Amino acid sequence: MKDPSLRRSVALFRAFLREPSDPRGFYELLARDAANQVERYEPLAGSVVVDVGGGGGHFTEEFRRRGAQSFLFEPDLDELTAGHRPPEGAVVADGYLLPLADGSADICFCSNVLEHVEDPWTFLSELIRVTRTGGLIYVSFTNWLSPWGGHEWAPWHYLGAERARRRYERRTGHPAKHVLGENLFPVHVGATLRQVRARDDVAVVSARARYWPFLPGLVTRVPLLREFATWNLLLILRRCP
Ligand SMILES: C[S@@+](CC[C@H](N)C(=O)[O-])C[C@H]1O[C@@H](n2cnc3c(N)ncnc32)[C@H](O)[C@@H]1O
Repeated sequence: MKDPSLRRSVALFRAFLREPSDPRGFYELLARDAANQVERYEPLAGSVVVDVGGGGGHFTEEFRRRGAQSFLFEPDLDELTAGHRPPEGAVVADGYLLPLADGSADICFCSNVLEHVEDPWTFLSELIRVTRTGGLIYVSFTNWLSPWGGHEWAPWHYLGAERARRRYERRTGHPAKHVLGENLFPVHVGATLRQVRARDDVAVVSARARYWPFLPGLVTRVPLLREFATWNLLLILRRCP
């Protein structure tokens, strides 16, 4: 599907809504979409790909289907084994401290993890460390002021995280998975762009709204508006010497 296009965004959104009943369908579509995005910048066939915080491994499986040597690093055994067998060779590892030598990866892929770590800048440094000079870093995350910033308790996070969590628990009868300050942290578009632009070990190739159907690069340029409208920031970085 063409990216950006309304057809693609609608298909992704519909699959996202069906995720509770058909997680496999959603993650496989998302993985194909992300692989297409990566291949705009770097061929997957023949590349060494490191998938950090890759959950159950749908991305790694898609990268392997396209001829990459892809390795999954995921610290949470429950995520790794949720619903299906993880990809062969998956490693239980923390993304802050990857068991990899400097410059091991042609492509470092990290989808929707940054908002789940307490120190996103240190985490990002580790992704950069393991990527070879000239290699590609794909990082995306849901920013805090996005309509989905509060995850399962969104959009009520706009009225305060604790209140939103309590509301979720009241409505569903079970506690929310995400707790602000424990496994969900407020990460902002502007601050992230300033962080990556200030670094001399990466060049920002693209900063766009990951799922947007039109002008995905424009929305991330408008201060304030971008915090609400980006929804999910996708950064494509190139490792500098
Ligand atoms: C929302 S899921 C995203 C999974 C998958 N990457 C995707 O895009 O569907 C967040 C993932 O980040 C992982 N994660 C949290 N802290 C991490 C850390 N310190 N290092 C690596 N992964 C981490 C979680 O275990 C979980 O699998």
